[in-house]
Amino acid sequence: MKRIITYGTFDMLHYGHINLLKRAKEMGDYLIVALSTDEFNWNSKQKKTYFSFEKRKQLLEAIRYVDLVIPEKDWNQKVTDMSLYQVDTFVMGDDWAGQFDFIQQETDAEVVYLKRTPEISTTQIKKDLNAKNLTTEHTSIVK
Ligand code: CTP
Repeated sequence: MKRIITYGTFDMLHYGHINLLKRAKEMGDYLIVALSTDEFNWNSKQKKTYFSFEKRKQLLEAIRYVDLVIPEKDWNQKVTDMSLYQVDTFVMGDDWAGQFDFIQQETDAEVVYLKRTPEISTTQIKKDLNAKNLTTEHTSIVK
C-alpha cells in the first residue's frame, strides 16, 4: 500500500484544497493530512484561523480522498512522521517548492510539489469577503 502525506492549515476549505487532496490521493492508496493545530498556526505563523482545529479536522475527515488526519504541532515532526506513518510520498503545493527537499535526503520518502490551483486561497476569500463587509464569523449576509 502506497502512503501519501501532506501538511497544511486547510482553513475555510475551498476547491484549491480539494484539487490538491484529490491529486495527492491519486498518487497512492492512503492519504494522511497533517493538519496544523491552532497553537502551531499562532506560534509559528501568527495566523489565527476562522475555523478551529476540531472543525477543520471534521471537514477534512468528510472528504473521500482523506484517510487519516493527524495534528501538525511543530516544524520538526516531518522527518519522524515519515517513519512513524511509513510514508512513501510527501506532497505539498508548489508554493512550497524546494523547501522540503531535505525530507527526501533524510528519509525514504519521495518529495513531490503539485501545481497550485490558480486564483483561490483562504487569504483571497477573506480579502474578497472583507471588501464586501462580510467578515464576521457566523454573520448573515448583509443586504
Ligand atoms: N493549495 C493549492 N491550491 C490553492 C490553495 C492551496 O494547491 N489554490 C494547497 C497548498 O499549496 C497546500 C495546501 O493546499 O499544499 C494547504 O494550503 P493552505 O495554506 O492551507 O491554503 P491556502 O488557501 O493557500 O491558505 P492561505 O491563503 O492562508 O495561505
